[in-house]
Amino acid sequence: MAELIVALDVGTRQEAVDAARRIGEAVGFYKIGLELFTAEGPDVVKAVKDLGKKVFLDLKLHDIPRTVERAVRSAGRLGVDLMTIHSVGGKAMIRAAADAAAEFGEGGPRVLAVTVLTSLDESDLADVGIVGRTPADQVRAMAKFATANGAHGLVCSPREVGDLSRTLPAGTLFVTPGVRPAGSSVGDQKRVATPAEAVADGATHLVVGRPIMAAADPAAAARAIRAEMNG
Ligand code: C5P
Repeated sequence: MAELIVALDVGTRQEAVDAARRIGEAVGFYKIGLELFTAEGPDVVKAVKDLGKKVFLDLKLHDIPRTVERAVRSAGRLGVDLMTIHSVGGKAMIRAAADAAAEFGEGGPRVLAVTVLTSLDESDLADVGIVGRTPADQVRAMAKFATANGAHGLVCSPREVGDLSRTLPAGTLFVTPGVRPAGSSVGDQKRVATPAEAVADGATHLVVGRPIMAAADPAAAARAIRAEMNG
């Protein structure tokens, strides 16, 4: 059954904890990203873990293998459940991340690879030397590369998840943002899918922010999305 992850896109630990408390039992998994982690550091991860919730630490690591390995180990010690690295960090970096995660056994962090940022188009790729490949080609190639080198899964858009889930090995995690319940505001997201569509396409985890965080009743919004995912 696919899991719902709520993006804690807030600036302070207090706001994060207040939101998670308010949502309560309706959500068991939260994403902490660069803004919140840079402001509050490991304490915010501990605070969310102390509420009995799982944490997806979305820092998109990209550095030399030794540095990434040590960062993954630090995340493992904090009890992080899911985390992200950039697949363009290369084979040794991906392996180092996966090996560090493996030290924590079954309960350790799962490492997700980012293939191509959804903010990049073909001309942006050409600017950084990736010529003659569309973003979709590059996503496919990097997804295969990252999972072949130890990544447990991928962050992918609703547009990509169907293709990737059909071609990559069973057990690969597909974590999909850009999810909007039918009829809700899309905000700045360009490529959206409903929760049911994303799960039918093979998403194992959906990342949802504003449709829950900005709802008048966030717990009810989360329950409605879970019902759509699993119904
Ligand atoms: O509010 P919303 O549901 O759009 O939030 C989606 C979350 O997923 C945000 O934290 C956003 O940064 C993240 N994300 C995304 N698209 C990507 C990668 C990450 O929306 N391509």
